[in-house]
Amino acid sequence: MRIAVAADHGGYPLKTEVIAHLLARGFEVEDLGCHSATESVDYPDYGAGIGRAVVAGQADVGIAICGSGIGISIAANKIDGVRAALVHDVTTAHLACEHNHANVLCLGARTTGSTVALECVDAFLAAKPEDRHQYRLDKITALEQSAREE
Ligand code: RB5
Repeated sequence: MRIAVAADHGGYPLKTEVIAHLLARGFEVEDLGCHSATESVDYPDYGAGIGRAVVAGQADVGIAICGSGIGISIAANKIDGVRAALVHDVTTAHLACEHNHANVLCLGARTTGSTVALECVDAFLAAKPEDRHQYRLDKITALEQSAREE
């Protein structure tokens, strides 16, 4: 599985831990930046970047991190075809996949400790999307289609 990871400066410290964890587990990782905790950057740029990478098929899933996880999840969800889910614990992490078929997992580096964050990553990657929710996802796809037509 190919996993793209992106963060703003607030998420950078956790991004380095997430990438090390994923590499140690044998995943193929694409680091989409940023590359510093001290140089201020803008989370919409990184949310859009990871969203575009996932929708283009450059990665199977994305992991996006900012200080709270809120901004980068909002930005990623603006990309057509992205289902980005901000999670705070193992339960929301596996439900994001099982019920919502999320393709971008979002974490807050300033709100979720790294131990729990890595557990969330593992829970999300181990989960399987449940077919029984597909019709609800189809409704979200229809919303995207109608927004395109407006
Ligand atoms: C950056 O200081 C911070 O606003 C950002 O990382 C994030 O928390 C936004 O939602």
